[in-house]
Amino acid sequence: MRIIRPQSSVKSFYDHVLKNQIPIEENLTGCITPDFQRILDTYESEIGLRAIDLGYGYGNYSIALAQKGFKVTAVDYVAPDYFKERLQSTAGKENITIIERDLNLFEPKGEYDVVVCKDVFHFLRRSKVEELLNVLIEKTNKKGWHYIVIFTDIWRKSNDGNEIVIENEARFTSDYLVDLVNYFYRNWKVNLKIEEYREKDRSGKEDSFYFKANRVTIMANNI
Ligand SMILES: C[S@@+](CC[C@H](N)C(=O)[O-])C[C@H]1O[C@@H](n2cnc3c(N)ncnc32)[C@H](O)[C@@H]1O
Repeated sequence: MRIIRPQSSVKSFYDHVLKNQIPIEENLTGCITPDFQRILDTYESEIGLRAIDLGYGYGNYSIALAQKGFKVTAVDYVAPDYFKERLQSTAGKENITIIERDLNLFEPKGEYDVVVCKDVFHFLRRSKVEELLNVLIEKTNKKGWHYIVIFTDIWRKSNDGNEIVIENEARFTSDYLVDLVNYFYRNWKVNLKIEEYREKDRSGKEDSFYFKANRVTIMANNI
């Protein structure tokens, strides 16, 4: 049987795990990825450049950008209290502006040098992902970067073995997304990576999974 969960269940889940810092397989509190570190390393201390982090989660990507000197807009629909509290004792906090908003309703304003959206777009409506990519490509300054990580070909299982889908989620296949990226970023330099991704279920069995997908990493430079 296929169970359709409402979008609101995603927000409640992340509100709960982030507020209470509950460890989950996604490792939300983990360090920024080596790929993103390589993008950051291409910049000196960047006073005045602007970045946007869509679906900032625990906030490590926003903080890394802020500490590099970027003015960061951090957007997520979770209650921002835990992030504000965390920022109180974090260097670079004055560089971060938090926006509490559903990305399905978000319209980016201004221009950016770095756009980050990691492990988020698969939750959104497909048409909204395409609109956001289009707008952000337009709004990204020359030499700017996009670091976007999206799950494709997603399969989720409930504890009692049913398939779970989230209402209105993008449900990209890798082939569709690769074609889209090649078309949208046709004037950029793009590095694409596709990896198998698995999250184990709670049965403790080695080969029993809750979530299987491909993880597509897009590192695009507006040369
Ligand atoms: C898997 S976490 C990724 C967090 C962070 N980008 C990272 O990689 O560490 C997904 C994040 O996307 C946010 N998110 C999912 N759907 C969203 C939506 N429609 N609007 C705003 N935020 C959303 C969740 O609240 C959560 O913080």
